[in-house]
Amino acid sequence: MGNHLTTRPTDLPFESILKSSADLVVVLDSRGNILEYRLTAPHLVEKFSGEFPYQQIGELLPAGKYPGGLDAFYQSGNILPIEFPLTASDGRTFWFDGRLSSLSPSQLILFSRDITKYKQIELRMQQQLRRLTGLRRLDLAIASNLDLNLLLHLLLEQAAILLPVDASALLLMNSETNLLTLAASKGLRSSIHSSIFLKLGVGYAGQVALERKRIHIPNLAGSAKSDAMPPYLQDENFTSYIGLPLITKGRTLGVLEVFHSSILQPEAEWLEFLDILAGRGAIAIDNAILFENLQKSSAELGMAYDATIEGWLRTLDLRDRETEGHTRRVADMTVQLAYAMGVAKEELIHIHRGAILHDIGKVAIPDDILRKPGPLTEEEWNIMRKHPAIAVEILTPIRYLSPALDIPHWHHERWDGNGYPDKLEGEQIPLSTRVFTVADVYHALVSDRPYRNAWSKQKAIEYIKEQTGKSFDPGVVPEFLKLVQKNEPSLVGWRA
Ligand code: C2E
Ligand code: SIN
Ligand code: SIN
Ligand code: FE
Ligand code: FE
Repeated sequence: MGNHLTTRPTDLPFESILKSSADLVVVLDSRGNILEYRLTAPHLVEKFSGEFPYQQIGELLPAGKYPGGLDAFYQSGNILPIEFPLTASDGRTFWFDGRLSSLSPSQLILFSRDITKYKQIELRMQQQLRRLTGLRRLDLAIASNLDLNLLLHLLLEQAAILLPVDASALLLMNSETNLLTLAASKGLRSSIHSSIFLKLGVGYAGQVALERKRIHIPNLAGSAKSDAMPPYLQDENFTSYIGLPLITKGRTLGVLEVFHSSILQPEAEWLEFLDILAGRGAIAIDNAILFENLQKSSAELGMAYDATIEGWLRTLDLRDRETEGHTRRVADMTVQLAYAMGVAKEELIHIHRGAILHDIGKVAIPDDILRKPGPLTEEEWNIMRKHPAIAVEILTPIRYLSPALDIPHWHHERWDGNGYPDKLEGEQIPLSTRVFTVADVYHALVSDRPYRNAWSKQKAIEYIKEQTGKSFDPGVVPEFLKLVQKNEPSLVGWRA
């Protein structure tokens, strides 16, 4: 068991400073053993009682990210950023963003802030992206007219991974006999049973098909009627059941059933995704039956993707305190400028996405740096300059964003080669990114920042001009000035 560390009332150094600068402070010996900890934020103190769940710093360092364990700390120089979860007495998970540093030759100290609020949003957005990516895979399979059996299995697989649920089944309805047949299942103990037929109105699935309505039984034990249990469920021990009708063009084509071993208390979003899966199932069946070619509304899917991007954007704005309008204006201006510079139309959507997401890597930058009201120290700059690389890390797994990576990756490169992270120079930097940089810096300068007040537009324009050939592509700046002049003729003092 634990070593019964408690919040001992010994004096930590600079008690009051600690309280104002961290929500959780942990003191360790130089080998990483946890000596004591202190929760300072009142909302946390009441959530955690007694023991600290970790005994060694190694338990806080995810193995993949810090393969060297504590050595990673010693190699990092002075400060190691660590993100870790803590489970409160009531079972809730809190997330902390900590910095590990030396307190004395024999002691280390970990200052941490409660970032639960942000982390939850981040996890939720990741969940949504995973679901959209899964849906995309399904749509591609449907569009390529795969065999119906394969499609149905793929669909159940996505339900298992993305909802997630323990088991699922898909029944097809024969419109002449009005019988349901089990066409595919996943996670069920007994193997396939094409000889199983259910009558309309009989059992849960039969009721779903007859009434064309979702049935949700949170606890089967409480409501079990044996005749509601088809043969393929009789060896099973599921707790929750949801059945949905598969309907297209007014016809009932089948039933999608999902089962879970514990009680499902799905949120609206979860149910919505289940409905979407059922909709895809109906389309797949309809296609297979009628050999109709799928007129996939890729526009609709595009909208779902963009809604997700918007979600990311709001996550970031919440932290950076940039106005949402700012990022959007930068993105719109970038697209206009890129178009004026001759960038192909098909690329503009990717450029727009890249521009919207350009600072997404800042989600990983701690608040005390991101919102610092003054200049950054060398140490803090080292962390801040990682935000382009972090963006690449976040976005790379999302295949539909791969054409949109340039801007997040290289928006802090400079024409003269003195930027970061790769010190690209001149035309090594993609044109779309060179265009973006001008728009981003202009809008950054005319906005309030935690570290300075907004500049006047006039002053910002002078700066852009002055940085031509240094930060900025000399080919882009005149186009930028033209655009600004078109919108606000008095500002530029320069004629086309
Ligand atoms: P950001 O605030 O969105 O700024 C984007 C870019 O606009 C900056 O990239 C820089 O090229 C330009 N820019 C913004 N404000 C100024 C300014 O006052 N003077 C000049 N000459 N240029 C400016 P950079 O420098 O690589 O900074 C990247 C990010 O680092 C900034 O994004 C901001 O989040 C943060 N940052 C930069 N300087 C400071 C600072 O002094 N204090 C704090 N707390 N954060 C800073
Ligand atoms: C889940 O996290 O899988 C269910 C909650 C939801 O996303 O609505
Ligand atoms: C987006 O991907 O951010 C929206 C697409 C657009 O409006 O160009
Ligand atoms: Fe940036
Ligand atoms: Fe920015």
